[in-house]
Amino acid sequence: MFSDRTNWNLTPNRLSEALAQHRATGKPLLDLTASNPTEVGFAYDSQAILQALSNPAALTYRPDPKGSMSARHAVALYCADRGASLSIDTIILTTGTSEAYSFVFRTLCNPGDEILVPTPSYPLFDFLANIQDVHLIRYPLVYDNGWQIDFQSLEAAITPRTRGIIVVHPNNPTGHFARPEDIAKLNQICSSREMAIIADEVFLDFSAVSNPAVSFAGNKGALTFTMSGLSKISGLPQMKVAWIVTSGPSQRQARARLEVIADTYLSVSTPAQLATPLLLGERRAFQNQVMSRLRANLNELDRQLSAQTSCSRLAVEGGWYAVLRVPATRSDEDLAIELLARDGVYVHPGHFYDFRGDGFLVVSLIAPERDFAEGIRRLMAKFEAN
Ligand SMILES: Cc1ncc(COP(=O)(O)O)c(C=O)c1O
Repeated sequence: MFSDRTNWNLTPNRLSEALAQHRATGKPLLDLTASNPTEVGFAYDSQAILQALSNPAALTYRPDPKGSMSARHAVALYCADRGASLSIDTIILTTGTSEAYSFVFRTLCNPGDEILVPTPSYPLFDFLANIQDVHLIRYPLVYDNGWQIDFQSLEAAITPRTRGIIVVHPNNPTGHFARPEDIAKLNQICSSREMAIIADEVFLDFSAVSNPAVSFAGNKGALTFTMSGLSKISGLPQMKVAWIVTSGPSQRQARARLEVIADTYLSVSTPAQLATPLLLGERRAFQNQVMSRLRANLNELDRQLSAQTSCSRLAVEGGWYAVLRVPATRSDEDLAIELLARDGVYVHPGHFYDFRGDGFLVVSLIAPERDFAEGIRRLMAKFEAN
């Protein structure tokens, strides 16, 4: 009765079961996986946001497959702020970066075609690709005083069915940016093989290093789909507004195809599109709060790390997460379950993000500062006691 592609194993994993059990007891939880910006104590200008959502123009339906001019104009201004000056014709709105991936996969791939994806990275890719009948092929990121793309393995993973390479800039959870030399190499690889770059820039604005990273939105060296949205930029995932910027060779044909897909769904609601200029403008106030929390939590983490010898952290260039290196005395999953059950601290095991080997935990740097400090204290106490 059902498609093979939906034949997922939906039994909860041991960690989700442990989390459900913990929640059922009503005991307090220090959630160091918290990544929903609307629930970690940031202040929003509620009045301005609600007012923008009640624009009387929302009572008329005037669909534009690419999204309204005013919303796309606001996105173009945002991109200009990130160093990419572009025409609003290059922008197509979607309800999320996740939907943007689906549209791009649909534009590039026949069933069974392949997309290269970094590992470790964001776990949702598997579902996004699976639903679109796309095969994900992983290319490794290697850590040596900082993360780098293993280009030799990346090139070895390319087959005649490879249609594109995903770059998460900065990556979740490794927090590293693509460097200018990486971009040049990706351009060379993709342009010589008729492949596209799919650049996910949802965390681009959250840089922990002094040189601001350049957006892929102005990239011309290969066909490039650059995606971002309000979820992270303005901390408003519930607004369901994101976008794809198309640049580089064959961009016109790519856009014409994307536009038909977008026209088929017309998925972004009129009230959200009308509010987009204001919601994007709200990013500065939001990002100031996030940046100060990221700095405070990272400082606290380093302060606690410097007082012990068992754990360390990997370099963070940007994004909302830190990767901890901990003694691999048991599997990451067992460790995360024990932390939850005995210490009331919830962290993500590295294997959730496809880290090779045990000994990695991922913590969210946007968790409220007190929870973060106490959660890290309990986590480290575990290793000091052992
Ligand atoms: C790297 C990355 N891309 C995309 C998304 C999803 O974003 P959206 O809410 O726009 O679908 C996330 C969400 O956490 C993410 O971490």
